[in-house]
Amino acid sequence: MIPEHAPTVHELLAFYLEAGVDCALSDAPVDRLSEEAVVEERPAASAVRPALRTSATAAVPPAAPVRYTAASPHADAAPAPDVAISSARDAARTAATLEDLRALLDAFDGCALKFTATKLVFADGKPEARIMFVGEAPGRDEDIEGLPFVGRSGKLLDLMIGAIGLKRSDVYIANVIPWRPPGNRTPTPQETQICLPFIQRQIELVDPDILVTMGNPSTQTLLKTREGIMRTRGKWIGYDTGRRQIRAMPTFHPAYLLRSPSYKRLAWQDFRAIRTALAVPASA
Ligand code: URA
Repeated sequence: MIPEHAPTVHELLAFYLEAGVDCALSDAPVDRLSEEAVVEERPAASAVRPALRTSATAAVPPAAPVRYTAASPHADAAPAPDVAISSARDAARTAATLEDLRALLDAFDGCALKFTATKLVFADGKPEARIMFVGEAPGRDEDIEGLPFVGRSGKLLDLMIGAIGLKRSDVYIANVIPWRPPGNRTPTPQETQICLPFIQRQIELVDPDILVTMGNPSTQTLLKTREGIMRTRGKWIGYDTGRRQIRAMPTFHPAYLLRSPSYKRLAWQDFRAIRTALAVPASA
């Protein structure tokens, strides 16, 4: 149907909101139809800003010319994925403390998600916690506050943690990806691989007795499995922190439980197993 009048700005914004558009990626629109698929060829940039380059990160070998595509408005800001992954590995292993790791992530330009996110969402809770929960990636509320799991699924996670006698301040909470993907889209495999060394180092530095992976992306990425959460949940799996083997428990993501409340019964079984495991002293 042809509209009777050109839409007003207000009508257009209302349309975008209804369609789920909730953030702008750049100030000006980009006509992708008029762009060449390949913009230019140039050497890949290093992923870590010079100020934070260390002897380890400085050792990243210069890469061959990389083809940049017009797929992202920030394609010129982020290096090629293989360069970014090796730079992330080098940077993450230099972090001696969680504060170092946060600073390194803040300075890391290798993941394009950083440029569309409002804030880095590093972690919440107690760094000395015996139990660490890891989700997928921040959503809108987390992006605004700079803290993981503060929106609707975070409220449910708080209740689940409370049900085993703990508070948010007793546990440590993080995500595989520390920046919100625009519009809450699924992170690409490259984005996940670029962020992986940082969350692995974060787990190593927190060194919990129990790691809880919430949902498929976190479970499959951290526990190196292709099995779906329906099969993996509720079963203890060994996770090598780099220093020692700890117990990992996959369970449902709270956002999934909000959509499918009938699975809360199974999640409760998982949390009861976690409570039992926590009752055993760390040295046992
Ligand atoms: N979902 C996640 O996986 N992480 C958050 O921090 C919030 C929602």
